[in-house]
Amino acid sequence: MLRINWIDINNTNGIENLSLEFNNGINLICGENGIGKTTILDCIASSFNRHNKNVRTNVNSSHDGNWGISYSKNESNIHEIFSLSDLETVDNYQYNRKFRFENRIKSKELINFSINRTSLTNIFYGNQLDYIQSWMLENYYKDNNLSNKKFYNLKIAQECFTRLDSRIKFSKVTERVLETNKGTRRILADIYLETPNGEIPFNFLSSGYRSCLLILLGIIRQTEVTSGFRDVHLFEGVILIDELDLHLHPEWQAKLIEILKWLVPRAQVIATTHSPHIIQTAKQNEVIALSFLNNKNKMNSENAFMDSKYDFQGWTIEEILKDVMGMESSYSKNFSCILKEFDKAVSDFDIEKIKILYKNIDEMLHPHNHLRKILKIQITSLLEVYDD
Ligand SMILES: Nc1ncnc2c1ncn2[C@@H]1O[C@H](COP(=O)(O)OP(=O)(O)OP(=O)(O)O)[C@@H](O)[C@H]1O
Ligand SMILES: [Mg+2]
Repeated sequence: MLRINWIDINNTNGIENLSLEFNNGINLICGENGIGKTTILDCIASSFNRHNKNVRTNVNSSHDGNWGISYSKNESNIHEIFSLSDLETVDNYQYNRKFRFENRIKSKELINFSINRTSLTNIFYGNQLDYIQSWMLENYYKDNNLSNKKFYNLKIAQECFTRLDSRIKFSKVTERVLETNKGTRRILADIYLETPNGEIPFNFLSSGYRSCLLILLGIIRQTEVTSGFRDVHLFEGVILIDELDLHLHPEWQAKLIEILKWLVPRAQVIATTHSPHIIQTAKQNEVIALSFLNNKNKMNSENAFMDSKYDFQGWTIEEILKDVMGMESSYSKNFSCILKEFDKAVSDFDIEKIKILYKNIDEMLHPHNHLRKILKIQITSLLEVYDD
């Protein structure tokens, strides 16, 4: 069993100094673009696979970047410190078998779904889809001696399709031979699903549906590879997922968390997200909200998080955006400016301007927005004062 307890990052990528604690179940890291969410995952991943190249010393720092990490492994607590200069040295030893062996052992219980927006070589595109489909075909349908555990995982993999969308059911995996121009042959696999529109290949489903499934099937595949075909429900390692909500419709974002809890109930999940919809269904102790404070990255744990037994269930998306995710306002910049002008006109008693701005606001607001009523009351009381 592997658990990450805490991490303390210094001068690494954009992070000057940041300490975070993690709980044993789901951890959702949120915060604005560039605050360092991916860097946190990269530091964790680099602690277990030293060939990860995504972490560098902060350009403003005169010291090498470093981080301390505390993790529990098979009942013992381990505390390690990594310096980026040491990691570079280890990279130079890439042909040293001892290091490579050590890396493989250490990363066995860690699954990393990272995103690289600048290239298309991430889990959601191209080859990875072929890879997962071929794995289904090879592992399950061409294995004549299917072990109990593999059979059990096959059933779980099939159930994932329906858990995500109750109208969709796994149908079959078929083999397809691809003849290339150079005369070589490649065997590809196609998963077929029964849908309300008939039996269609997995490739034809929406990108949101596919990316959810690629995470779920990717976890099953990875636990089989690293944990010796153990039942995926028993996986007790750590799963890192960058941008959990990428490509997903809000309804599926919340579902994905539920399905993850069902798929790997014993795993620790550390994920980054930009989605208030995911936060809305999360428990308060599952959310790690980062915000910039005094030019440094600091954890924002006490910010507006009341101790509520109902977590964020009664919070609107707007309130989550503002008080958890640190967004100043969910109104557009243009609208926020007009509101500010309106406030100024009110304090200046500039009745003509108030009337013009109110008309403007009235036209811009959602038809049922309560702000209209509030502003109207404000104007009426102002006119009463004015008339007096
Ligand atoms: N070596 C470095 N020195 C200083 N700043 C760096 C360095 N490398 C990256 N950064 C900064 O770190 C930030 C990127 O951090 P990271 O990718 O972890 O953010 P993020 O929270 O994941 O953002 P997003 O939400 O856009 O994915 C950028 O603002 C970048 O300018
Ligand atoms: Mg990121």
